[in-house]
Formats: sequence, structure tokens, C-alpha cells
Amino acid sequence: MREDIKEVLYTEEQIREKIKEMGKQISEDYKGKDLILIGVLKGSVLFMSDLLKEITIPCNMDFMAVSSYGASTTSSGVVRILKDLDFEIEGKEVLIAEDIIDTGITLRYLMEYLKGRKPKSLEVACLLNKPERRKVEIDAKYLGFDVPDHFLVGYGLDYAEKYRNLPFVGILKEEIYK
Ligand code: IMP
Ligand code: MG
Repeated sequence: MREDIKEVLYTEEQIREKIKEMGKQISEDYKGKDLILIGVLKGSVLFMSDLLKEITIPCNMDFMAVSSYGASTTSSGVVRILKDLDFEIEGKEVLIAEDIIDTGITLRYLMEYLKGRKPKSLEVACLLNKPERRKVEIDAKYLGFDVPDHFLVGYGLDYAEKYRNLPFVGILKEEIYK
């Protein structure tokens, strides 16, 4: 896998530091509140589990699975829900954990959908942000790193379901997907 990576953008240590700060901030902001973290499968799994460990207040967790890409590297703009929540979120403080915001289409769709369930609040914690590619506005309360417009893999991010288990975030060599 490592030989398919052009450049490591964020090491395991850099990611850990960033998530530590984020977890601390979230723990302060949501102190005394009924927080539920919702992970977007499968990309957010590594981020979510590390973030959960840095949150020092009581916190529930749930998952949703959506599909917007198939095996391609650009968003089709069509979002499908593959797995819905197990819990009711009405009146809860909901925080969506996502791996990366690219066009923003997936998160926008998800946020509109979850708003319909009447949470008390709905915010986003996202590890990576590709601002250059944005098509719809997303206001993420917690953002890790702004990244350049390259196709990234590792730390949960995949190309055709591969590379998710790399412990760092790297740029995938173009010849792999071109
Ligand atoms: P968006 O709807 O275009 O914002 O895409 C969001 C989803 O696309 C993310 O949750 C990722 O699963 C996937 N994605 C976007 N950019 C990348 C990337 O560079 N590498 C891997 N997956 C990506
Ligand atoms: Mg994702």
C-alpha cells in the first residue's frame, strides 16, 4: 500500500495532536449536555474512534452509512442512505463526525435529513477539508486540516475500499486511479 502513496500529508502524530485539541474543545463546549456523536461510515471510523477517546464527557455514539461516490474519485452528487440511525435524536445535541468535506454534497444532504429528526443542535466535526472543491456551503464547527485538491487516502479514506487502514493521510499516486 505504502508504495502507492505519493506524499504523506499528515502523520499519525500530527493527526493525534489535532484530534486531541478537538476532543478537548468538544468536551468543554458540550459539558452538561446530552451529546451524541454520529459517525458517517466507513470513512470516519478511525477519526471517530480516536475522537471519542479524547472526549472526556459522557457521549453516545451511532452510525449512518451513505453512498455518494461508488468506486469513482469524484462525487456523483447523488446521495443514498445505506444505514440509518439506531437511536432517536430528538432533543439531543448531535455532532456528525466525518472524514473529509469535499464538494459538501454528502454532508449537506445528511444535515438536512437529520434536521428533520428535530435534534436540539446539529454540528459537524470533520478531520479534513478541501475548500477548493466546495459546491455547497457547509459550516463545520470543528475542522482539522485544510487540504489541497488531491485525492487522499488513509486514516479511513479509501480509493475503491483500499488504503483505509493506513495510519496517516497521504496523496494517492495519480497512476493508481487514472
Ligand atoms: P462530498 O460529498 O463531495 O463532500 O464528499 C464527501 C465524501 O467523499 C467523504 O466523506 C469521503 O468519503 C469521500 N471523499 C472526498 N474526497 C475524498 C478523497 O480525497 N479521498 C477519499 N475519499 C474522499
Ligand atoms: Mg465519507
